Amino acid sequence: MSSALPVVRDVPALRAEIAAWRKTGLRVGLVPTMGALHEGHLSLVQTAKEKCDRVIASLFVNPRQFAPHEDFDRYPRDEAGDSAMLAGAGCDLLYAPDRAAMYPAGFSTNVIVSDVSTPLEGEFRPHFFGGVATVVSKLLLQALPDAAYFGEKDYQQLQVIKRMTRDLDIPVEIVGCATVREHDGLAMSSRNAYLSADERRVAARLNHIMHDAIKAARGGEAITEVEAEAARHIAAAGFASVDYIAIRDAETLQPIADLSRPARILAAAWLGKTRLIDNMAV
Ligand code: PAF
Repeated sequence: MSSALPVVRDVPALRAEIAAWRKTGLRVGLVPTMGALHEGHLSLVQTAKEKCDRVIASLFVNPRQFAPHEDFDRYPRDEAGDSAMLAGAGCDLLYAPDRAAMYPAGFSTNVIVSDVSTPLEGEFRPHFFGGVATVVSKLLLQALPDAAYFGEKDYQQLQVIKRMTRDLDIPVEIVGCATVREHDGLAMSSRNAYLSADERRVAARLNHIMHDAIKAARGGEAITEVEAEAARHIAAAGFASVDYIAIRDAETLQPIADLSRPARILAAAWLGKTRLIDNMAV
């Protein structure tokens, strides 16, 4: 499939395109992705398009955010298909560097964000946020857009990126966008493509169990009780295992005793070899 969307593959070419836009005062938005695009990614492009004159999507499957035993090799890759979808959503430029352009020989820097990176995903995927923060700081500094758009589906990632951008004085507005869901409530994810038909049916239970947990917490049940009960329901629904289901402070992701501050429920659970995550405001 040939793409109507212009593509650049290195920083000088990316910056040349952006400089031409900047000369005429255009506002630029960036949507970082790892490809395998779905409606969730396209909604980020559409939101960016509403707020910016030009929108760039980056496509880079970042090896630094996968542990050796994870799915880097089998992660779905289809640049031509992604490019056509982005063009259809109104994206103006695809930035698709290869590994050597992003991490040239001798690359030795890691961006580590403490505190907000530590719980939940940080416990189960200790390599993950260092890889994300390193690549996202590079993408933001390479493009220096006015704003960058990330899905709330990866809620802890969004909080880590917000913290990093503030801490490093990166002059880019970080915008979180609502999770896009399938008709049965399953959060859209590139990894849903791994699910068998049976697993897909079970997967839809996760968001319903989270809704029930929110109701119980709002009704005054103790948070630790709500979490334990929700974990039991996830296991009973047919998930192979539960990494966590937790109600946390919505900004710091630290445990909370009550709902006196904005809170978020976050979950990660396994179906076969596929790990699903989801989250909602409480
Ligand atoms: O959310 C993702 O797709 C990735 O973690 C990101 C932000 C593009 C960094 O590789």
